[in-house]
Amino acid sequence: MALDTTQQNRRMTHFNDHESIWLFGYGSLIWKAGFDYLERRPAHIRGWTRRFWQGSHDHRGTPTAPGRVATLLPASGAICHGMAYRITPDILGPLDVREKNGYLREVVTLRFADGDTAQGLVYIATEDNAAYLGEAPAEAIARQIAAARGPSGPNRDYLLNLDEALRALDVKDAHVAELAHHVRHLDSEAPDAR
Ligand code: BEZ
Repeated sequence: MALDTTQQNRRMTHFNDHESIWLFGYGSLIWKAGFDYLERRPAHIRGWTRRFWQGSHDHRGTPTAPGRVATLLPASGAICHGMAYRITPDILGPLDVREKNGYLREVVTLRFADGDTAQGLVYIATEDNAAYLGEAPAEAIARQIAAARGPSGPNRDYLLNLDEALRALDVKDAHVAELAHHVRHLDSEAPDAR
């Protein structure tokens, strides 16, 4: 898959004639949208699990020292909790550009705490994209995150903000919590390295 996914996402016209679209956020979108929205509600999706397996060469790292950010992996029986935003369709163009480093739009069923459901979109970076890094031991992922920094800031802030935002939502994510634990430990060993 090409490194810039903007054009592929523009050809995905599923919700173009809708007045508003639900967008599911599972990474930085949980604590920071960075766009205007009509409504924001905690939600979850079934059959997906969050992993720090996507490389970030443009936001939380650089081409020579990429960071790691979240993507979703298909996982039977899994539930991924996050934040849903109801947006107008014009928001998608700038988002496609912001998330062009491998993320493609996917249609999913969003489930809200009150039992409501809605069809919506989520951005997923699959293993065939050029920036994909894949699985690695938690300590190695944490070391990479602790060291990386890009135009959007330190990679560790992305992880620790996500960990705190999930805790505030009362969501337990063992993968995120384990990585955050390792990064905090690395910080305490070398506080000046931040
Ligand atoms: C998110 O924060 O959920 C997200 C948004 C766009 C691409 C990848 C993740």
